[in-house]
Amino acid sequence: MFEKVLQEIYKESKLQPKIGEIATYIPELANVNPDKFGISLLTLDGEEINLGDANERFSIQSISKPLTLSLAFTFLGEKIWERVGVEPSGSPFNSLVQLEYEKGIPRNPFINAGALVIADILVTHLKNPKTNFINFLREISDINTLDYDLSVAKSEASTGFRNIALANFLKSFGNITNNVDEVLDFYFHQCSISMSCSELNKVFYFFANEGVTLNGKEILNRSQIKRMNALMQSCGFYDESGEFTYRVGLPGKSGVGGGIVAMLPKKFIVSTWSPRLNSNGNSELGMFALEQLTTKTGMSIF
Ligand code: DON
Repeated sequence: MFEKVLQEIYKESKLQPKIGEIATYIPELANVNPDKFGISLLTLDGEEINLGDANERFSIQSISKPLTLSLAFTFLGEKIWERVGVEPSGSPFNSLVQLEYEKGIPRNPFINAGALVIADILVTHLKNPKTNFINFLREISDINTLDYDLSVAKSEASTGFRNIALANFLKSFGNITNNVDEVLDFYFHQCSISMSCSELNKVFYFFANEGVTLNGKEILNRSQIKRMNALMQSCGFYDESGEFTYRVGLPGKSGVGGGIVAMLPKKFIVSTWSPRLNSNGNSELGMFALEQLTTKTGMSIF
């Protein structure tokens, strides 16, 4: 059902002007070919379409944040909101500005400050945080080769001064409970994970399937997954979340590696990868392709 429309969108996307810049503030990300482009769609009925570079792995970066949040939510439930909010920040993903006057409670779990608090929660609750987290992703997807990209993690650790500042600032408010270096190490590793568009769809399947993974494991219940998707809708694209909602109309999450994952609950998951980013750190061509998808099919949550 989606084959024809996706082919059309792929062709149109390839003809678009090359706008946007590859992320270079993490030096290792600058080594990627900026003109890569892939799109992958997986329906809950089992239809799968992969086009272009849909099977090539890239750095998922912030796309890891709904995954760490979901796992932390399994440990803390609603108590999690004592440490992080659920409001869009209207500020860039790496901003420090609200944190001081909001007393160390990040606006939401997807800005870097919020994701660091979630990383702290996982460091508290997991015995071997990095091993347990990657195993969690392997178990929910049956993709046993998923892994951290150690050169990306190392590269970010050597230049991640903003995140280092944020983590220390959070610690000064008591909203990081573990050793700051340990939390940052976990965070840089979660961001370094590589996946292809096709793999992202399999890992993110449970967000579209009422909390149940592709291999039948219930991660969160229906009401909890509603909350995760609501947060992706309102905060998944930082200060561009309104724009993404307006143009695409799906909950989703972006990363500075150029990936985007979005889903229509109970229907499909779609991922795109194009490393050229706009000034808000979101993939220019990915947003274009997803806007085309919901416009041409009329399938969005609105
Ligand atoms: O913390 C950072 O800056 C990166 N590891 C992740 C940022 C990111 O992907 C923002 N997304 N658009």
